[in-house]
Amino acid sequence: MQIIHTIAELRARLAQEPNIGFVPTMGNLHAGHIHLVNLAKQQSQCAVVSIFVNPLQFGVNEDLSTYPRTLDADCKKLEAAGADIVFAPSVAEMYPSPQTMLISPPPIADELCGEVRPSHFDGVATVVMKLFNIVRPHIAIFGKKDFQQLFIIRELLRQFNLPIKIIAGETVREEDGLAMSSRNGYLNPAQRIEAKRLHRTLQQIVQSVQKGQRDYPAIESQTTQYLTQLGWIVDYISIRSANSLQHAAPEDRELVVLGAARQGNTRLIDNIEFNF
Ligand code: PAF
Repeated sequence: MQIIHTIAELRARLAQEPNIGFVPTMGNLHAGHIHLVNLAKQQSQCAVVSIFVNPLQFGVNEDLSTYPRTLDADCKKLEAAGADIVFAPSVAEMYPSPQTMLISPPPIADELCGEVRPSHFDGVATVVMKLFNIVRPHIAIFGKKDFQQLFIIRELLRQFNLPIKIIAGETVREEDGLAMSSRNGYLNPAQRIEAKRLHRTLQQIVQSVQKGQRDYPAIESQTTQYLTQLGWIVDYISIRSANSLQHAAPEDRELVVLGAARQGNTRLIDNIEFNF
């Protein structure tokens, strides 16, 4: 496995690769990321993983400075997983001058996570576009845990005619159902025990919709109230069309329930796709 830090070296190395599978990450890798790397390996001849904590997608009061940077441990995990190349650029390599041109994502980027993280998806879409231009992958793998991000990346590809196939990796969970996330490490022991409730609560919503409950706004507000009473700070609980990510209409049958809520300062997100 090669570890490359510069765009020039990466481009030279990849110039003759006929089939590149790309997994963009911000590092602090866990089994969820390794699942994505496995998919890249199965579906391509050269699995490239980027590790870059992208300042452009963090708000002023967010955790950019404390976001865990664990390059050595990450590279060991990637070597064991059989990745071919790690691309770990510095901030100066990715942004040698201020990034004054940004991708402006569609209005859905202002809802859900975008409502509490304004311009987050501008930063995500911009860095992903830059990474796509640098790596020029044939396929790219994103996790379904970041369902809204995945939706926006698909739009990026569609609207800019990028010849890349997107593969969506299933969310990998801890034994108690908590979706794996680099931010889980911020939880204290009591918060970690409570954290599993987010997924369980989304599962209960799926069950009630599948049993015939159709008053989605009522489900959303009751669930928000329930979690708030238990000490969560709820950003949103939302039942949406899995295809358009718009609020679910009664005739929609392919749905996704998404939730974002905080335990202390730690923001957790999760979602479940389902049909009825
Ligand atoms: O999902 C992430 O880790 C990041 O948003 C991504 C896609 C690597 C862009 O920085």
